[in-house]
Amino acid sequence: MRQTRRQFLGATAAFSAAAIAPHRLMAQASGFAPITARTAAVQLAPEGYAKTDIWGYDGAMPGPTIRVQQGARVQREFVNALPQASSVHWHGIRIANAMDGVSGLTQDAVAPGDTFEYDFVVPDAGTYWFHAHNRSFEQVARGLHGALIVEEPVAVDVDRDEVLVVDDWLLNPETAQLDPDFEAAHDRSHAGRSGNFIVTNGDYEFSTDVKKGDRLRLRLINAANARIFVLSLAGLDGWAMAYDGMPLAQPEKIEGDFPLAPGQRVDLFVDVTAEVGESAYVLRTLDGQNMPQATFPVTAASTGSMRGAPDALPANTIAEIGDLADARSLILNMEGGAMGQLEAAILDGERRTFRQLADANQFWAFNGVIGMTDTPLATLARGETVRLTIKNDTAFPHAIHLHGMHFREVAQDGQLGPMRDTLLSIGGQSNEIAFVADNPGKWLLHCHMLTHAASGMMTWVDVA
Ligand code: C2O
Ligand code: CU
Repeated sequence: MRQTRRQFLGATAAFSAAAIAPHRLMAQASGFAPITARTAAVQLAPEGYAKTDIWGYDGAMPGPTIRVQQGARVQREFVNALPQASSVHWHGIRIANAMDGVSGLTQDAVAPGDTFEYDFVVPDAGTYWFHAHNRSFEQVARGLHGALIVEEPVAVDVDRDEVLVVDDWLLNPETAQLDPDFEAAHDRSHAGRSGNFIVTNGDYEFSTDVKKGDRLRLRLINAANARIFVLSLAGLDGWAMAYDGMPLAQPEKIEGDFPLAPGQRVDLFVDVTAEVGESAYVLRTLDGQNMPQATFPVTAASTGSMRGAPDALPANTIAEIGDLADARSLILNMEGGAMGQLEAAILDGERRTFRQLADANQFWAFNGVIGMTDTPLATLARGETVRLTIKNDTAFPHAIHLHGMHFREVAQDGQLGPMRDTLLSIGGQSNEIAFVADNPGKWLLHCHMLTHAASGMMTWVDVA
């Protein structure tokens, strides 16, 4: 249901006044530092445009970066000062299930004015993030996301550590306000809700000064609803060090373009090779053109010499995948969308034609079923090795995210790829992933193109 802009603002004002005061008291009672989801107005569009009304953690976009040591306990009191129920998901953390923050699966959505205590341990070092997990297609688009950085126990040899949250916003070019049609059928049935205003850390011309010869650790996080960023480096010698938080056994030299799908992260080490007075860049390729995604003006030269290829980051301790020959085999058939072949699928227990599904604003099926059901895709024994074939029978790419456990891609020849939590699946292709089901609980498996998740691409596995 769409509200007019006036109704929306009216509701917001009423809630903020009523909701915030009692929470301050409760936050003190629990002793947990509060993290408050609330409305705010931020200067997103260039100077001269109006401020944009957003929803942000502590009113910021991205929200405040949470930085902790590996093995630390994170205790935050989530305060919902929004006009809508919400919850916080800690993306990529191998977390206790009750803290995973999925409204309707691992907890009830936190009503406006209510609070929820998140209390969990972060077992793995790396680059993670947190975001709303109720009506994510709307709430993440409104700005409810932030970085969660887990530091290695030993200092890493870099001069700078920069978190770069890449995102896009769908703004009305006249008013600079968010397009309020979060459930647009065209976005849902095609590539998802893509923005027209691309930012890094909320800044459309993100820039930070560097020295020639410096080694930077860039932690890239794709918080966009649907955009696959295609990135490259200029004036920087770079290595991929970790994907989705998990260190690579061997750093990979960056040559040319690399994709970053919604939900995915990459940790890069980059050495500044551009000359003093020039700029180095992270570039994005869009419609055949390279544009700066982040600009690094080189203002001085470092006194040290270049370091040479880096050593791998210390590995996280995760159960290794057992013999694939003995693994439990599962399949995820993805169908639907515009230009797809889906003729019919089950919605709410009933078989519906594609036309009927479209009328219900639902477009995508996993194994012939639309959206979450009471029965999981599979019930897994704890510790069991699972191989899951992900078959993309659609005309679009999808970013398939598994909660609670990391997986490795299984190549045609049986070789295991790097550990990840979000797989970029290309239309018409098939991928296989394998993981050890060692984290008990109910874990979501869904497309991180959030409009796709909301229009069918969502299921779950139950680890007994
Ligand atoms: Cu990053 Cu289920 O989400
Ligand atoms: Cu998708």
